[in-house]
Amino acid sequence: MTLRLTWRRIGIALAALVLGGLLFGWSGLFYVGATGGHWGVTNWFLHWVMQNSVRTYSLLVEEPPDLRDRALLARGAGHYATGCAPCHAAPGEPQNPVVSQSLPAPPDFSRRIDEWDSKEFFRIVQHGVRYSGMPAWPEPGRQDEVWSMVALLEALPSLSPEEYRRLAYGQEAAEFPAGGSAALARLSDPAAPVLADCARCHNRDGLGRDGDAFPIIAGQSETYLVETLRAFAEGRRHSGMMQPPAARAGDEALQAIARHYAAQPRAAAAAAPADAALIEQGERIAREGVVAQQVPACLSCHGDEALRRNLAFPRLDGQHAGYLQRQLEAWQSGVRGGGPRQELMRTVADRLTADQVKAVSAWFAAQGTRQEAASRP
Ligand code: HEC
Ligand code: HEC
Ligand code: HEC
Repeated sequence: MTLRLTWRRIGIALAALVLGGLLFGWSGLFYVGATGGHWGVTNWFLHWVMQNSVRTYSLLVEEPPDLRDRALLARGAGHYATGCAPCHAAPGEPQNPVVSQSLPAPPDFSRRIDEWDSKEFFRIVQHGVRYSGMPAWPEPGRQDEVWSMVALLEALPSLSPEEYRRLAYGQEAAEFPAGGSAALARLSDPAAPVLADCARCHNRDGLGRDGDAFPIIAGQSETYLVETLRAFAEGRRHSGMMQPPAARAGDEALQAIARHYAAQPRAAAAAAPADAALIEQGERIAREGVVAQQVPACLSCHGDEALRRNLAFPRLDGQHAGYLQRQLEAWQSGVRGGGPRQELMRTVADRLTADQVKAVSAWFAAQGTRQEAASRP
């Protein structure tokens, strides 16, 4: 007997398949437990699909910055210790056995890490992996932050446990006993010493470490610090690195920490040598603005006088040029956000050209801490 293929028969067959699938789901016979793992063929299929997807979508990723930059590596490691190591382990910090029972289990990077190229790593970290528990970057628009994670992933196989601990915990290493489970407990422990957490990256003196990896927060106005930390905690200022520590600290602790850092003596970053003409261009912008582009003088809000009147405005003197530049660029690409007055600044940043951003950042960085003491109560 020959069965003639008609649209009607195909339709009926498809409907029967869908109905069968629904019945099977409804019956509860499908096993969703994580024990026993996937069949070999399922494992192969899922990884094959994931690899293909990552490879294809990585074609959209832009060219990476210089990933051997020490500051990128330090920033990546600081976040990795609390944002990734609880699942993926780290050099000298074995994987938590609880985590290794999930399906798929997060690969244990203290043993080995699969080879992906930089753009593929970028894609995985930026968007996460669906159906696997691998989270997306909290602020996918902060590409600079994602690149610092890629820098760390590429360096991971060559980092000794000592080197990793220094990069991840800074001078606070003693406060953070080695071991994935300690890191996991810390994530949910509200009593964890908040300052020790902040100091991993910013140091207790607020001057940061590893070149321009972290902004200088010493001697910043307390009002600005509190408003900024709340903005991070509530997701109004966008950073996948600062959001988690600010959110897990709690408001009371944030106020105490803001007081602590506001009281630290400010010292200028070692300014990278910059071109004299560039600095001069920056000074003109800071003092006079750019009339043709309706850019007001920066010092009308960030100068000594203005800072005395407006405690909510940040001081920029002696800050790392790279950090200032990244903030202005983040406003221009729409991902900075900030405290209650950030709209003022967004308008200003939007009107600057790339050259002007570079020049004015270099000038502020080169100011040392001239405005110190006189400016702040
Ligand atoms: C809640 C646990 C969890 C956290 C936190 C987590 N991951 Fe993952 N990650 C996973 C899982 C599970 C996979 C496996 C995905 C798969 O096999 O399809 C994975 C896969 C990966 C991969 C691909 C590895 C490979 O070879 O297949 C990379 C790279 C990665 N994660 C990096 C990171 C980074 C960087 C962070 C921190 C920003 C992070 N992960 C945070 C669970 C996690
Ligand atoms: C994993 C490293 C890391 C940890 C931990 C960390 N920070 Fe940060 N912090 C950063 C980075 C990176 C930035 C720059 C964010 C950006 O580019 O938007 C930053 C920015 C800041 C700023 C904004 C500075 C400015 O001039 O606007 C403040 C304030 C701050 N951090 C305070 C803290 C406090 C308080 C804690 C502890 C609750 C903390 N940080 C924990 C890395 C860290
Ligand atoms: C009308 C007032 C005003 C003017 C003029 C102004 N700013 Fe700002 N600026 C602000 C405010 C308010 C903030 C804080 C935004 C926030 O909540 O994060 C800020 C923040 C910044 C930051 C981020 C600082 C940090 O620590 O993260 C940079 C960089 C900056 N301004 C640069 C400039 C430059 C360069 C100019 C001149 C071209 C300028 N500003 C002119 C009000 C102003």
